[in-house]
Amino acid sequence: MEDMLNLGDRGLQVRPLGIGAWSWGDRFFWQYGSDYGEKQVREAFEAAINSGITLFDTAEVYGQGESERLLGKFHQSCEAPVHIATKYGPLPWRLFKSSVYDAVSASLERLQLDSIPLYQVHWPFTCFMSQETLLNALADEVERGRIQAVGVSNYSADEMMQAQQILQSRGVPLAVNQVRYSLLSRTIETKGILDMAKDLGVVLLAYSPLAQGLLTGKYTARNSPSGGRKMDAKFSVKGLQRIDPLLGMLRELGQKYQKTPAQVALNWLIGQGGIIPIPGAKTAQQANDNAGALGWNLSSEDWIRLEQASRPWL
Ligand SMILES: NC(=O)c1ccc[n+]([C@@H]2O[C@H](COP(=O)([O-])OP(=O)(O)OC[C@H]3O[C@@H](n4cnc5c(N)ncnc54)[C@H](OP(=O)(O)O)[C@@H]3O)[C@@H](O)[C@H]2O)c1
Repeated sequence: MEDMLNLGDRGLQVRPLGIGAWSWGDRFFWQYGSDYGEKQVREAFEAAINSGITLFDTAEVYGQGESERLLGKFHQSCEAPVHIATKYGPLPWRLFKSSVYDAVSASLERLQLDSIPLYQVHWPFTCFMSQETLLNALADEVERGRIQAVGVSNYSADEMMQAQQILQSRGVPLAVNQVRYSLLSRTIETKGILDMAKDLGVVLLAYSPLAQGLLTGKYTARNSPSGGRKMDAKFSVKGLQRIDPLLGMLRELGQKYQKTPAQVALNWLIGQGGIIPIPGAKTAQQANDNAGALGWNLSSEDWIRLEQASRPWL
């Protein structure tokens, strides 16, 4: 069994793979309610739990609260441990500490929880409420026991260090920085975020770790996704041609290890240590497939081959 990772200092331990719940309830980008709905995402939740995954990532904005509501419902009928991570949006009209209190109250209600295991700041917007005020309000919530660990998301190396210092002065560790990270999106390495996280002992939650489905290898010029991804140049004919050699390598390694391309792509992230990919899954089949990224390791030679093949995305 792989090493467990600690999130914060209140005993929250998770395996190095979670599941993202953005698509659960989101009609705008993911088209929830078209070819999948509550039944399918409940099955994805159950499949994840049955394969030993306990970390579920959501946000108050996903599906305008529907993702949190669904998770709230699902964990009520589940006896296994469930660790929910949600996010606070520092929106323009949220000016005071009381905005944080109100947002936590609303998330607690939708999630049907007394305390949120991991509460993250969704983006580093500082023009409306300073980081000082915001992070102190979150430290207050830790003291109240309404949240157990504090994280941030989309923070640069400097912003992450500053956040850690502010929280540390209140005796609260910065548990995570949630950032976009996959074989097709490696800028956190060139921007110093990966190194800074290691130095600070901050775990990175890797979002869009399958590049929104591209690294599964299922999308082609004739089979492109509907919804928000249509606008993304990575899904264009040119974009798909560009990733072809990398997909070829994922397939080749998949055959060698008897794994799918998605499992190989996720294992490449997990193998670095201190990183928890949180792939989104709309169905039990996807959740099961992704869970198969755990329990084995790419050899160091194969890990390096993928590292080299994905350098264009550094
Ligand atoms: N903090 C932030 O700013 C931020 C931003 C983005 C995401 N996130 C978080 O990160 C999570 C994951 O990111 P993401 O959803 O953008 O991208 P992702 O995990 O790279 O891709 C998820 C999508 O890929 C497809 N897929 C997943 N597993 C599959 C499998 N095994 N086989 C075939 N297809 C599969 C599914 O869509 P199709 O079936 O439609 O292809 C799924 O919705 C989100 O749910 C959210 O929790 C956070």
